[in-house]
Amino acid sequence: MKKLFFSNFILLLFCFTSFAQQKKGAIASKAMVVSAYPDASKIGLEVLKKGGNAFDAMIATELALAVCYPVAGNIGGGGFMVYRTHKGGYGTLDYREKAPSKAHKDMFLDAQGNVIPNLSLESHLAVGVPGTIDGLWQVHQKFGTLPFKDLVQPAINLAYRGVVLTKAEADGLNEYRNDFIKNNTQIPHWVKPEGILWKAGDTLRHIDLAHTLERIRDNGRDGFYKGKTAELIVTQMKSPQTNKGIISLEDLQNYKATWRKPVIGHYKDYKIISMSPPSAGGIGLIQMLGMLEKFPLKEWGFHHPKSIQAIVEAERRFYADRATYIGDPDFYKVPIKKLLDKTYIANRIKDFMPEKATPSTQIKAGMLKGKESEETTHYSIVDAWGNAIAVTTTLNDNYGSKIMVNGAGFLLNNEMDDFSSKTGVPNMFGVVGGKANAIAPNKRMLSSMTPTILEKNNKLFMIVGTPGGSTITTSVFQVVLNVIEFDMSLQEAIEKPRFHHQWLPDLVYIEKATFDENTKKILTQWGYELKERSNIGKVNGVLVLPDGKLEGGADNRRDDTAVGY
Ligand code: DON
Repeated sequence: MKKLFFSNFILLLFCFTSFAQQKKGAIASKAMVVSAYPDASKIGLEVLKKGGNAFDAMIATELALAVCYPVAGNIGGGGFMVYRTHKGGYGTLDYREKAPSKAHKDMFLDAQGNVIPNLSLESHLAVGVPGTIDGLWQVHQKFGTLPFKDLVQPAINLAYRGVVLTKAEADGLNEYRNDFIKNNTQIPHWVKPEGILWKAGDTLRHIDLAHTLERIRDNGRDGFYKGKTAELIVTQMKSPQTNKGIISLEDLQNYKATWRKPVIGHYKDYKIISMSPPSAGGIGLIQMLGMLEKFPLKEWGFHHPKSIQAIVEAERRFYADRATYIGDPDFYKVPIKKLLDKTYIANRIKDFMPEKATPSTQIKAGMLKGKESEETTHYSIVDAWGNAIAVTTTLNDNYGSKIMVNGAGFLLNNEMDDFSSKTGVPNMFGVVGGKANAIAPNKRMLSSMTPTILEKNNKLFMIVGTPGGSTITTSVFQVVLNVIEFDMSLQEAIEKPRFHHQWLPDLVYIEKATFDENTKKILTQWGYELKERSNIGKVNGVLVLPDGKLEGGADNRRDDTAVGY
């Protein structure tokens, strides 16, 4: 008995010391904001400290990101928000861009039916009708407590005062200089004369954008979708620089963000609340976790070849379903219930072969039975009442289409590339699709964005999300596993190297230094082809610790910043 007590004591001590030794993110006792840029996190936190709720902070943070993080923060793009109120109610807002009403299925194909390179990425035709401002406006109508104008003002002040650039931000503006010149009739204000570079610490002001934000502050959604801003967007569409665009004043006026039910799933003791179609992210996360529920990951351990294999095989199978079944639910009947069915998910991985890769050629989308009734940005917020939001928003590519609306100072997205321009032809992220994600007027393009909230015992447990195109869903998946299965702090879970498989191409992408040489050798022997690539995802989130405190996890792959009080 004494011996048992002693060994339990040692075990406890070991767990305690190893937890205490873990690298942790920012710790706060009441509220937390984690976003991609220090100014945006601080602006969100100020709103919370003034008594605003998480939804108020969302509006201020998102608009601040549009100023200080133009690589992905935006008013010319769109996004998704998943929320959980402190009373346990949840929902989502889909403010994804839409295809303009004049869009058509073959708009990116030439006369021979081949995809015209780059047309869906760097032209006015690449632009979807932006959703961000209607999204924020609707959030305010439903949940806002502070006046809308007070939530827009901090972004206006930042735009006038100027943003102090981080190294990553300065490098980004330098790297894309030629694209900004090539894609615009009026050279954007941040393009420096040849040979002069932006450096960390430089200040960048955005005067036209400040004026646009003032119109939004004074007129709400109409400050964007009607009047001067709308006219500037439509004039921009007629600019001769690249192919003419097709977004009309009516398209802008008619844009409406949509409240949707989240997808819900369970993994062990956890409830997953995530984004429903037109994002594939939530279905993907729930499917992949579900496929692994019976695998002894904890026993095998983090980045053990067996764990890696199981994760890769789950990823491969989900991405096959993604390509076939998921699109805008307003246009295509997405079999959500079937895709989330526990038996279906368990059967998907029944053909798993230990220590042997399943070639992607042998994996097709699952058979559903019966009838079915580099840049985006994520931020996570919890307020003092316990309301939680997870938001992922994007222009799609880094700086979107690189097209700036002349006189309005903001960039337009190139989200049309997220549609499947032609069945089986990969898009920018190498993912393929078909009918479910074909282009149609006013349809939303399929996304991978996975803003997610987890509950444990009916209480808020975790908020998480990331940019990263098709790697978004796998990055969220691996961070969740790192916390739940491998007992990491959120910060550690986020910093650990990641890997990614997306069915096609049949490769395991790995971040540099992800696996040691021996692990790589074993995986190769088992039939996996490994390919190094730069960062996979840039995750941030908030974890509720056992003592009720909050850990803000911010990815060290760039400038993500967690602040709380
Ligand atoms: O919606 C999507 O899935 C993509 N447009 C996201 C783009 C993205 O994450 C780019 N970031 N690296």
